[in-house]
Amino acid sequence: MWAELIQLLATGLWFILPAYVANATPVVLGGGRPIDGGRVFIDGRPIFGPGKTIRGFISGLIAGFILGVLQGLATGQLHFYSVLGFLLALGALMGDLLGSFIKRRVNLERGSAAPVLDQLGFVVLALLFASPVSVPPWEVILIILVITPPIHLGTNFIGHKLKLKERPY
Ligand code: CTP
Ligand code: MG
Repeated sequence: MWAELIQLLATGLWFILPAYVANATPVVLGGGRPIDGGRVFIDGRPIFGPGKTIRGFISGLIAGFILGVLQGLATGQLHFYSVLGFLLALGALMGDLLGSFIKRRVNLERGSAAPVLDQLGFVVLALLFASPVSVPPWEVILIILVITPPIHLGTNFIGHKLKLKERPY
């Protein structure tokens, strides 16, 4: 029972790791020009807001892809894992953007907390983007959805303590 759970946990983490890396990298390497260029949507509010930058997006995409390449080198399946890493990273960043887009539409300012959306949006889109290449068994998807919120909150808290992030969530 425990051995199976740990096996499932390891499989889930291994699969979703490029999405985590893509999501975390912008906190360190992001900044500069916002993706929306400071423009507003038809409702007069920012499209994504100043927390979504071009440098953050590109650095996250490259970092997630590099992780996929490393997984490919480690397993001898370079092509599969590099494509998977790229798609997971792209999905994670698009999910993060979509989350900010939705937050701005309901008038939540940049940096405000949107429970569930903040912790799960990126991982759901990462799984969707990766699905043409690989769909994990449902138990693995379930465990990814269960472990991601606490991991996300934990790493954000550490990032805050390390003064990388203004807010602890
Ligand atoms: N970041 C970035 N570019 C991105 C995504 C994130 O530069 N594409 C950086 C920003 O400095 C951002 C930080 O990573 O403040 C944390 O990301 P996140 O929590 O997703 O953004 P928030 O500032 O909370 O903004 P939002 O309310 O839109 O989620
Ligand atoms: Mg945030």
